[in-house]
Amino acid sequence: METALRVRGLSIRKLQPQETPPYDLLLLADPSRELVNAYIAEGECYIAEEQNDSIGVFVMVPLTNGTVEIKNIAVREDKQGHGIGRKLLQEAIEIAKSNGYKSIEIGTGNSSIDQLALYQKCGFRISDIIKDFFVQYYDEVIMENGIQCKDMILLRMEI
Ligand code: ACO
Repeated sequence: METALRVRGLSIRKLQPQETPPYDLLLLADPSRELVNAYIAEGECYIAEEQNDSIGVFVMVPLTNGTVEIKNIAVREDKQGHGIGRKLLQEAIEIAKSNGYKSIEIGTGNSSIDQLALYQKCGFRISDIIKDFFVQYYDEVIMENGIQCKDMILLRMEI
């Protein structure tokens, strides 16, 4: 078992191969269990714990050309809005840097106003839009902030 890394009061560790992924957290960020399973298999899942409780998660998947993508990031509902998501993002950026990646990407829906704010506050810039991504790949209609989630907004940061 790898030693957990303590980041500003949170303990962050990699999900071990024999462990069940924290679906309760992962599905907060992505309603498709099928897609979650597919990208967990391709990348690394990190769990943030506070007093042995899992309160956050992020998944990093390598792309080509020295880029890594944060495919999923979530904080347990009762812990949201207290700076943990920002800490997880900062930690993901540090992990990417220390693994030699040159850039980091994250994607979210056009309707995810708060997430778009957070990612830009952390230094990401919008780099691309994949039109109708959520219409094409998700069975259900996703509504947020009174807006239908249709397009994937990709954000990128050189690190
Ligand atoms: N306008 C301006 N700023 C905003 C807004 C807004 N509408 N909403 C949030 N923010 C800012 C906050 O002010 C704060 O900024 P600050 O650090 O400068 O004060 C920051 O965004 C939010 O900070 P945190 O408290 O660190 O966020 P939290 O711990 O709630 O984590 C997360 C954010 C991960 C998005 C969490 O709310 C969550 O799990 N949501 C449900 C799952 C989800 O949507 N995940 C992302 C999907 S996309 C993907 O996974 C790649």
